[in-house]
Amino acid sequence: MTIFSHPIPFVQQVASLARLCWEMGWNEANGGNISWRLPTDEVESVLARRYPNVTPAEPVNLPQSQPTLDGEYFIVTGTGQYFRHATEFPDQVFGIVRIVEGGSAYQTVWGFSNGGRPTSEFATHLAGHAVRKRVSKGRERILLHCHAPEFIALSYILPLDSAELTKALWTKMPECIVIFPDGVHIVPPMLPGTTDIADASVKEMEHGRVISWTHHGIFASEATPDSVFGLVETIEKAAGIHRKVQSAGGERQTISNGLLTELSVYFERLLVQKPVIPGDD
Ligand code: 13P
Ligand code: ZN
Repeated sequence: MTIFSHPIPFVQQVASLARLCWEMGWNEANGGNISWRLPTDEVESVLARRYPNVTPAEPVNLPQSQPTLDGEYFIVTGTGQYFRHATEFPDQVFGIVRIVEGGSAYQTVWGFSNGGRPTSEFATHLAGHAVRKRVSKGRERILLHCHAPEFIALSYILPLDSAELTKALWTKMPECIVIFPDGVHIVPPMLPGTTDIADASVKEMEHGRVISWTHHGIFASEATPDSVFGLVETIEKAAGIHRKVQSAGGERQTISNGLLTELSVYFERLLVQKPVIPGDD
């Protein structure tokens, strides 16, 4: 992984994550985006210390108001910015924005140095943050969207059924049901960047952290850059195993529903929520 430092520790962490995602082959060119809800006191104190002269830009209206995010700071990738450039040009690739005016607008407070603005998927990110902040009681803070190739490939060969996709992935390694007991939730093919895809995504995010944007990619919520990377990495690996098994002629045997149940009981303390496992076989 690239060694990289930045005066703002959040930039250091998120740029390293973005660069790593590019190295994994998940985020070609400007494909994908990241947003991270930052602790208010920490971000205000680091900006005051390191960038005392920056003044917030004029508020920009959001397409959907998010009252529960009013006052929150986010570091977010700029639209059209390359993940490959994250550690080389962090002040251009990322911006720190604050949600203002009751959740109906944002102000850029740092970054987007070449006049950029947040990702075209910002409405969906904010809608996702609002729901996952509530459901996780504040634990989850970061949303990562990747064009993970093995995961996208499955949306062409499996039925568009969340339970079926979840089961295909859970049965590829014992860790899967422990890492994502809340499953993977499918959003049908839709135009990216619209409030329609934001609405469809948040409906599914009531039930879990991981969304499949059909034929497009993964959208996942977690607490930290490390944990969201681990979540996507595990799902992408399971998707790759599934594709290999299918290409080799399909399953002769698999992890049974009984073993899935045993795994979820044995590792109960590690689970974000209880999995819904089809009846024991
Ligand atoms: P942005 O460059 O606007 O973030 O769009 C990339 C993308 O992956 C859209 O789904
Ligand atoms: Zn995308």
